[in-house]
Amino acid sequence: MARALVLGATGHIGAHVVRALLKEGHSVRAGYRSDRYLSVLDGLPLERCRVDLDTGDGLADALRGCEWVFHAAGSYPALLSLSPAGQRRDAVVEQAVRTLNQTLEAIYASGPKRVVFTSSAAVIRHVSGRLAAEADVEPWPLPDTRPLYATAKIAMEHAAFAFARRTGLPLLAVNPSVCIGEYDAHAFSGRSVLVFAKRQAPFVFDHTFNAVYTGDVGIGHVRAAERGQVGERYLLAAEDVELPSFARLVAEEAGVPPPRLRLPLPVVQTAALACEAWAACSRTEPLFSRRSIHPRSPGAGLDNRKAREALGMSWVPVREAVRRALAWFRLVRMLG
Ligand SMILES: NC(=O)c1ccc[n+]([C@@H]2O[C@H](COP(=O)([O-])OP(=O)(O)OC[C@H]3O[C@@H](n4cnc5c(N)ncnc54)[C@H](OP(=O)(O)O)[C@@H]3O)[C@@H](O)[C@H]2O)c1
Repeated sequence: MARALVLGATGHIGAHVVRALLKEGHSVRAGYRSDRYLSVLDGLPLERCRVDLDTGDGLADALRGCEWVFHAAGSYPALLSLSPAGQRRDAVVEQAVRTLNQTLEAIYASGPKRVVFTSSAAVIRHVSGRLAAEADVEPWPLPDTRPLYATAKIAMEHAAFAFARRTGLPLLAVNPSVCIGEYDAHAFSGRSVLVFAKRQAPFVFDHTFNAVYTGDVGIGHVRAAERGQVGERYLLAAEDVELPSFARLVAEEAGVPPPRLRLPLPVVQTAALACEAWAACSRTEPLFSRRSIHPRSPGAGLDNRKAREALGMSWVPVREAVRRALAWFRLVRMLG
């Protein structure tokens, strides 16, 4: 049994990693930043340790004696806008990479046996006509502009592997797609469920994304530490879903009507273009861009074979993940 530190333990993914570790009998130190979300760890037999990765405060103490380190506290750059800080996107990405490198330096100094870095399926390039897999990783630097979130995740994963190659840190990456499940107190990916359950989205459009139950993502992290190969990445991506069917599914499970309107793709693309133009003039991040719309493309999607074969992963269906997410949102009154 290993002693493990989970950075970002109060986060959506971290909270599941903690539970998957405890279930396997490992001993867990939960690295958290703010008290605000600590209740997601209530009742669990673990050690709590305050860590701020921006300042490095608490990190060395948290790392002491841990053989496994899970880094699920990655920067979540503003999804909608770079204001009010008015920061340029390059500065945001540079800051995320700088913080990551400082964190990895401290982890390296503590001499762990395994480091599991929570990356993202956003680093995988969409390929037309076939499933995209771990080898289809985006290059860095990027040849063109991507949504800020994807840009930061790509830069961070490249930086993590570069650090590991340079130092010999035994690091591997796991790349979850859109996570749906319990303990999503920050509700970044959970927003995709809440928006339809609360009937806040008046329309849907032709867009495909991959979703995964966050409980499986937690298990995937632990299996990566146990059985994964250093230097590899593992896509934790369960099902490709189309936005209109996903909206219908959430609405059914929440007992509300689904959005009535399905916007034609050209309308959505024109709106995205307008958002990009406005963002360029106002020097902010676009609300959404043409790059973030993925219309259905026959045969395309994400290939999860490597995680199934190397880590022995199987997947909870997306409908069940939505059911569990809704039940938890109701329990904590994030949904009426
Ligand atoms: N959720 C998804 O669908 C998804 C999919 C693929 C990849 N990912 C990636 O996985 C990682 C975790 O995602 P998540 O959904 O679990 O995020 P989350 O729910 O927002 O949780 C993030 C956790 O990291 C902590 N944290 C953030 N910055 C920190 C810092 N500077 N110092 C110390 N702790 C810090 C947060 O602490 P506080 O509680 O104090 O805020 C929180 O505990 C992110 O890198 C994200 O990009 C997420």
